[in-house]
Amino acid sequence: MHSWTCLLAAALLTRHASAQFNMLRFACSQLVVERTDPLVNPGMTYTPHLHQIVGGNSFNVTMDPATHDLPGLSTCTSCSFAEDFSNYWTAVLFFKQKNGTYKRVPQVGNGGPQGQLSQKGGLDIYYIPSGKVTAFKKGFRMLAGTATNTDPNKVNKGNICHRCWTSPSEAQFVGGAPCTGSDTVDVPKDQSCKMIRQTIIFPTCWNGKDLDSPDHQSHVAYSGTGASGGGSCPSTHPVKLPQIMYELMWNVTDFTNDPSVWPTDGSNPYVYSMNLGGPAAHGDYLFGWKDDTLQKAMDNNCNLDATCNAAGIHKQTQAAYDACTLPQQAPEQVDGWLKALPMGEMAVMS
Ligand SMILES: *[C@@H]1O[C@H](CO)[C@@H](O)[C@H](O)[C@H]1NC(C)=O
Ligand SMILES: *[C@@H]1O[C@H](CO)[C@@H](O)[C@H](O)[C@H]1NC(C)=O
Ligand SMILES: *[C@@H]1O[C@H](CO)[C@@H](O)[C@H](O)[C@H]1NC(C)=O
Repeated sequence: MHSWTCLLAAALLTRHASAQFNMLRFACSQLVVERTDPLVNPGMTYTPHLHQIVGGNSFNVTMDPATHDLPGLSTCTSCSFAEDFSNYWTAVLFFKQKNGTYKRVPQVGNGGPQGQLSQKGGLDIYYIPSGKVTAFKKGFRMLAGTATNTDPNKVNKGNICHRCWTSPSEAQFVGGAPCTGSDTVDVPKDQSCKMIRQTIIFPTCWNGKDLDSPDHQSHVAYSGTGASGGGSCPSTHPVKLPQIMYELMWNVTDFTNDPSVWPTDGSNPYVYSMNLGGPAAHGDYLFGWKDDTLQKAMDNNCNLDATCNAAGIHKQTQAAYDACTLPQQAPEQVDGWLKALPMGEMAVMS
């Protein structure tokens, strides 16, 4: 039993005697790489740091939860389920080479014991149920992690972590369950890494009232650590949600293989787009599944990225979800060797 899903299934079976351990796991391609953030900085053009965004193409600078209907306003989604117009985004990882210039690290498809997923840029999304869960309500949004944090001790490495992927293939699995073993809060700078896998696990307990909160976090709480969705919720946040997990594969092969760019002073060459390291890793979520399809998907044990008629959710072809993109609005370069990170007015003007 090398598969962490088998281990999770075994753990869950001890609690729910007859449970079959299913979960949604699907690919999302890149919608846009953009300096906007309708959750933390609505209306701001442009936000201080760059994000990669996936999901429904109604994504925009301002997405007022009272009026912005993601399924209604989107005409496509870059995620594999045709009914999922949610938006998911994270900071972008850069490699700072020894001459001081930066390059965005490419994001690639993901393997793992549940099979290979394929996408263009982008990331993988999981919705992990534990028993009966309550799907997010229309307008729900949340944030995991802290974009300004520099202290690794302030991050629970069981929920937000990085893994050095020593296998050259994303399909050849490395390590155990997400955020266990030798996974770290910091981004690993080991030159044996071919890829770096980033995992962001979101809180699974909700206060049952608020679709959002001023810090985008206090309306939700963790029930525990790790990718099981398990654990009991605190009395302040009694409603069990599906556990959302983001999994990103940063392909660092070109950098770790090239002594001409690798820093010689021992510094960690990886920085997120805030110009900070692993402790500042964060993920943003705006719920946008059509009608009650997510609730039905959870109730009907829909599995992985397969079409699930009981919930009315359908797998698109990769060509279809790859084709859903938005034009970048901020007038700046984000790819190639850059003299400075795209971070603010100065970067826009130059
Ligand atoms: C984003 O918002 C602007 C201004 O409200 C609007 O003109 C534009 O069509 C919107 N874009 C999308 C993709 O909805
Ligand atoms: C840094 O190196 C890259 C290629 O690795 C090159 O394109 C760029 O011009 C160099 N920049 C400086 C400032 O030396
Ligand atoms: C990662 O990058 C290397 C070097 O460019 C490339 O050969 C390899 O195919 C990439 N892996 C994936 C999964 O895209």
